[in-house]
Amino acid sequence: MKVFHNKSELSYIRDRLKSENSTIGFVPTMGALHNGHLSLVEKGLSENHVVVVSIFVNPTQFDNREDLKKYPRTLEADVALLSNVSNDKIIVYAPSVEDVYGDKVQSESIKFDGLENEMEGAFREGHFDGVGTIVKRLFEIVKPNRAYFGEKDFQQLQIIRKLVELYHIPVEIVGCSIHRAQDGLAMSSRNIRLTNEHRKAAPFIYKTLKSAKTKFGTKSAKKVAEWVEKQFRKQPLLELEYFIIADTETLKPVKRKSTKKAYRAFIAVYAGDIRLIDNIALN
Ligand code: PAF
Repeated sequence: MKVFHNKSELSYIRDRLKSENSTIGFVPTMGALHNGHLSLVEKGLSENHVVVVSIFVNPTQFDNREDLKKYPRTLEADVALLSNVSNDKIIVYAPSVEDVYGDKVQSESIKFDGLENEMEGAFREGHFDGVGTIVKRLFEIVKPNRAYFGEKDFQQLQIIRKLVELYHIPVEIVGCSIHRAQDGLAMSSRNIRLTNEHRKAAPFIYKTLKSAKTKFGTKSAKKVAEWVEKQFRKQPLLELEYFIIADTETLKPVKRKSTKKAYRAFIAVYAGDIRLIDNIALN
């Protein structure tokens, strides 16, 4: 397994692959890999000659210093997991902050047609500037043919689609369905930081989303949101930050349901000091 820590080594291999007409799939990650990431890598391998996996905890997308400090960093274990998938078709790019940002660790301010102001954008200041900046930079370094993103971060996925449109980046964005543990909890690198108690309580999030989906068949978005808020008030271990039913394209909260539009419910919940997000398609 090739593991590169600087972009000049990676670009040498990348140019060789391009000159051989090999296609490059790309899975950007912040490490602490789990089966959700591995399913993106496997999809990438089924559609490309090689897959580049970046492992980089991007400082500019954290609005909370403590969260950045505590974010799991498990490079050795990540590389071991990836080598079980393929030893010769995966390239790992695990750069330092300096390799990516030089001496200016700063994000650009990017407007994504308002997508950046909703939900995660409203609750995590500057988050999507950081995500947009790093993904644009990684696309410049890796120059992939296709890039794979999980729908757990659905807002991020829509923002990346907008990013490639705005900057005319020649990459196909592939959205992949959410990978869940058997009990329904959406897979996330943060899950390993949950206490046993919080891990046991966390499947309630998806259970509630599924019930909300059923209710949305007959009730208004407002009534469904009120019902969800009430359920979480009864949960001592989980604190609801937001539950929002939004238009899948614009991500604007729904005011009045239309049969012509697609909707999704989005949720953010604190389990102790771990913030978990999830979402579900409603129609
Ligand atoms: O989804 C993530 O893990 C990160 O936001 C990403 C896309 C790797 C950018 O740092």
